[in-house]
Amino acid sequence: MKGLVLSGGFGTRLRPLTYSQQKQLIPVANKPILFYCIEDLINAGIKKIGVVVGPNKEQVMDAVRSVSWPADIEFIHQDYPGGLAHAVKVSRDFLGDDKFVMYLGDNLLKGGACNYIRDFARSSNAASLLITRVDDPQEYGQALIDEREKIIVKLVEKPKETLSNFTLVGIYGLTPIIFEAIDKIKPSWRNQLEITDALQWLIDNGYRVDYRMVEGWWKDTGKPEDILEANRLVLDELRPENKGKIENSVVKGRVGLGRNSVVKDNSVVEGPAIIGEGCTISNAYIGPFTSIGNCCEIIGTEIENSIVMEGTKIVNAGKIVESLIGKNVVIEKGNSLPRGGRFILGDSSKVKI
Ligand code: DAU
Repeated sequence: MKGLVLSGGFGTRLRPLTYSQQKQLIPVANKPILFYCIEDLINAGIKKIGVVVGPNKEQVMDAVRSVSWPADIEFIHQDYPGGLAHAVKVSRDFLGDDKFVMYLGDNLLKGGACNYIRDFARSSNAASLLITRVDDPQEYGQALIDEREKIIVKLVEKPKETLSNFTLVGIYGLTPIIFEAIDKIKPSWRNQLEITDALQWLIDNGYRVDYRMVEGWWKDTGKPEDILEANRLVLDELRPENKGKIENSVVKGRVGLGRNSVVKDNSVVEGPAIIGEGCTISNAYIGPFTSIGNCCEIIGTEIENSIVMEGTKIVNAGKIVESLIGKNVVIEKGNSLPRGGRFILGDSSKVKI
């Protein structure tokens, strides 16, 4: 069986971060979301993985190539984000006649999808979907299920009128018959080839599409608040590890401190929190559920419930909460006149003061 991880798309709901960074590379607990997906497929025993790339493809390829994975990884270029079924269509040569698991590269599952993937590998169903029950299904693909037969009877992508609270998690077990289904469907109102339409074609043509419910938490990291929530959920299970130095400071709770990082000058770090390599934390408070990327400086500042990406410097900035701060950002208190905030903010930035 093969794996197909989708790492294309524009990530418009995460602008401005996604102007310069592909959304699947945004770090959660200092690791790109995409890497959790690849690891999950590998843990389920999959040895051949295709990664669909689109905008910022070089960045995604460089990031994936920087790790030595115990699997063959191939990149598949998607010219434009034409929909999930379009991503499958452009991967046809890579997928050949094999069964495969399509994994959306912005999805995180607590327990991973190993059990589901192994069940699908053994089954003779045309497709198998992972689903969960949510209170606000309008942002997701929705499924009507037959609980007795354990099958899906109807699927619709983000319908205006709620069809069901059972929603599709971004992990799909598929077989080569899906290519025939994709050839039969037309683009949707948003001009995308929808995988839900292709799956509906299978159902309408007598193929069995079954489902399995998610175990543990699941997060689609499409919006900033989802990423912060995913960061909290992952940090909640962090194993403490200290490879750095603690000087005249307090580190309590479960904290990961990277190589060549120093916590000094009466700082307090309260876990769960992770601090990458080569960081300086001086006279600062790093509170629970915070991830600080490599080579950051946090000086004279309190920060909690936030993600700070690599190379960022925050000096005497007061208290920062629930923030998603990109790479190489500088935030510092200015002393020159006239007093007041001075901002250089890219398009779609958001500042609350
Ligand atoms: O997260 C679960 C939901 O994921 C499902 O409930 C929906 O049925 C499914 O359509 C999907 O909805 P999203 O709105 O989250 O899809 P999004 O456009 O964000 O794309 C999902 C991932 O696939 C994302 O990592 C980008 C990538 N992608 C997307 C498109 C449309 C591609 O690589 N190529 C594409 O053409």
